[in-house]
Formats: sequence, structure tokens, C-alpha cells
Amino acid sequence: MVNRDSFANSFGALMALVGSAIGLGNLWRFPYLMGTNGGAAFIIIYIAFVFLFCIPIAIAEFTIGQRSQSNAFGAFKILAPGTKWRFMGILFVLGAVMVLSFYSVVGGWTMDYLFQAISLSLPSISDAPNTFSKVISSEYRSLISTFVFLLSTSVILFAGVKGGIEKCAKVMMPLLFLLIIVVIFKSLSLKGSSEGIEFLLKPDFSAITANTILSALGQAFFSLSIGMGTLMTYASYVRKNKNVTALLSKMAIADTLFALLAGLAIMPAVFALGVSPSEGPGLLFIILPEVFSQISGGSFFAILFFAAVFLAAITSSISLLEVAVAFIGEEFKMGRKKAIIVSSLFCLVLAVLCSLSQGVLSSFKLFGKTIFDLFDSTTANFIMPIGALLIVIFVGWKMKKTEFYDEISTSKLKKVIYFIIKYIAPIAIISIMVFGWIS
Ligand code: PHE
Repeated sequence: MVNRDSFANSFGALMALVGSAIGLGNLWRFPYLMGTNGGAAFIIIYIAFVFLFCIPIAIAEFTIGQRSQSNAFGAFKILAPGTKWRFMGILFVLGAVMVLSFYSVVGGWTMDYLFQAISLSLPSISDAPNTFSKVISSEYRSLISTFVFLLSTSVILFAGVKGGIEKCAKVMMPLLFLLIIVVIFKSLSLKGSSEGIEFLLKPDFSAITANTILSALGQAFFSLSIGMGTLMTYASYVRKNKNVTALLSKMAIADTLFALLAGLAIMPAVFALGVSPSEGPGLLFIILPEVFSQISGGSFFAILFFAAVFLAAITSSISLLEVAVAFIGEEFKMGRKKAIIVSSLFCLVLAVLCSLSQGVLSSFKLFGKTIFDLFDSTTANFIMPIGALLIVIFVGWKMKKTEFYDEISTSKLKKVIYFIIKYIAPIAIISIMVFGWIS
């Protein structure tokens, strides 16, 4: 096999994994889902899913990459030669590219807001919804920001796995935690913020519906980057890590902690200013600029906040693009640089469609949805759960138990983990998906 790049050590691998996990899922998706699904009640269900079966599923995905030391498609050629399993790799690559294409659009909005914050031109309260619609629907503005975001993603990948992905994550992740903590202090110091804390701590179980449960599962997969080939691809850059359970548990704990911190940064401020937490996806881009426009020192905190969102987004987007880069590079025997250019251009085409679907193409609908919404919902509600399901079936039923144990040999919990992967996870994923589709 060609000489592959790899992470320098397990700390670097952990930072890269945390970088992939923490992203717009934590800062943009989690707060609004929680806001519309009963606050603390949603958090409890979400955390239960993460620890009951998402960590084992993440371990299953990771072992495939680590054992094969290959990309998401090549992994199955190596582990199950001559079978149809390799086509599963295609699903992952396609899924990752689809997520990246709408992710780059939102990443672009983030850059746009960061730029507005730096140039002190964030909108005032009456202007916020207007500004948001300008940011997302004016073609040149949204296309440029999407392009710049995708370009930044590729530039990092040019520097390689160790020199690009790992180095960035090592610097950006600690910085991200620092930034969010500063914003939390500010948010908590606002008058009336205690109501927001109550919202985060007092569960309202009456707000829980079948849909809450499905959203919590989808969010857990999305946030932990499960079922998209990213964990697999990153795992293939980790050599001989025998403490896979600890590594992925740390990743999940950091990701969950950050989601809670994001809630703590956002909700108290939202309540302090009397805004409804159930504003939906606009929460981050419409409500927060309003919040910042009203607090003292708001422009400074706006810069910190949108810088944090940007860092979180870019360390996730590089993990998505890397799935395609590793696949194209290894399967079509292309040099890394060429593979990055080809995959980025491919993503760019789809990202342009996603971006335009917020403006000129907004009336073009497939299955009743704009391209942006279609990519968002099919990946989170369909490709990721199916990907996760295929992963647990592969590891639980196709791979030998001894092979799996060999990959996570030092874990005392390996029997429990294996049991969850083989029986509990498939049953749970199938029932939740069927349940969700029916309702
Ligand atoms: N986990 C990332 C987030 O929370 C998104 C992501 C999904 C990244 C799937 C990689 C793979 O924003």
C-alpha cells in the first residue's frame, strides 16, 4: 500500500475527532431543536442516546477504518473482499459530499456574520430578519461566502493529515472552548438570564412526542459525525490505538459538554431579552445578532461568538471533505492535491445549488423540498441512520468477533459493547426509523 499520512499521536487524533464532532450541529442545530422540543427533556433523551448506543456505534465505525487503514470504500474491499459491502462506501462518500454542500452554505453565513461583527455592522433589532434574508438569498453574497468557506476547507487539507487537519484542530479546539466560556459569562451576567438556566435544567416531559425522540437520535448521529464515513476515514490515520473505547468516549463527552455549553451561552441571553427559544433554525442568525445589539460590549462578544461558530464549522467541514479526498485519491490513484481539487469542485457544484435554493432557486422543489432542505433532511434522517445501521450489521454480523476484539482489546467493556453493536443498536435504529416514518 502507498505510504499514508497519519495523526502524530493519540492526542492529535482526539483533537481531530473532537473537531469533526463539534460543529454547527452543536451551535446551530442543538439549541433550536432543544428550544422546540421541551428544553431539558430533550437534553435527557439526547444524552441517553449518546451513552447507550451512539458511543458503541462510533466504536464500530472506528474499528472498520482502523483495521483496514483505508478510505471508506477501500475499507470494505479489504475487510470483505469480493462482496457487495464496498458499495456501502459509496453511500458514505455521497452522504459526506451532500452534508458538506449545505454545510458550506451555513459555514458561509457564519463567515458573513463574523465579517459583519468585525466591521461593526451587525443589524439592530428591527433589521435582523431582513439582514438574514439578504445574507442567504442575495446570490453574489451567499455564493461568495459559500465559496470562501469551501476554499478555506480545501486549503487546510492541502497541508495534509498531520500538518493540516491535526494542527488546526489542536489550536482551534482549545480556543473554541475558551471563546464559548467567555460568551457564557457574559450571557449569565444579563438580567433575567436565570429563566434560561431553568429552561435548561427543568424538563418539560409533556413536550416530548415521537418526533422529539427521532430528532434526538438524528441529532446524536449528526453531532457525533456517525454514519458518514468520517470516523472511519479518521480512524484509518490512527495507527495501533488499543484504547479505542476511551478515545471515542472522550470524543463523545467533549461533544456533549460543548453542546451543553452552547446551550448555556445562548439560552440565558435569549430569555434575558424575552425572545422565544422556539424560534427554529433562525435562532443563531436572527436572534443572536439581536441579542448582541442590545447588550453592552455586544459587538465584541459578537466577534468572539461568530469566531467560535466559524472554528467549530471549519474543523467539521474538513472531516467531511477528507472522506471524499481519501476515496478519490486512493481508489483512482490520484495525488492528494489533485484529489482535493476534484472533490472540492464536485462539492462546489452541489453547494452552489444549495446556496441558490435559498434565493433564485427557492421555487425549484424535489419531493416538496428545496435542494438545501432535501440534502439536510435526507442526510440526517435517512443516510446517517442507514449508514449507522449498515455499520453495526457489518461489525456485528459480518466481521468476526475476534477481529473486533482485536481492535479494542484493552477495553474491559468489550463484551457489553459488542452486545450493543450486534443486537441493541440495530433494533433501536430500525424501530426509531420506522416509528418516525410512520408518524
Ligand atoms: N458533527 C458535525 C457537527 O455537529 C457535523 C458532521 C456530520 C461532521 C457528519 C461530519 C460528519 O456539526
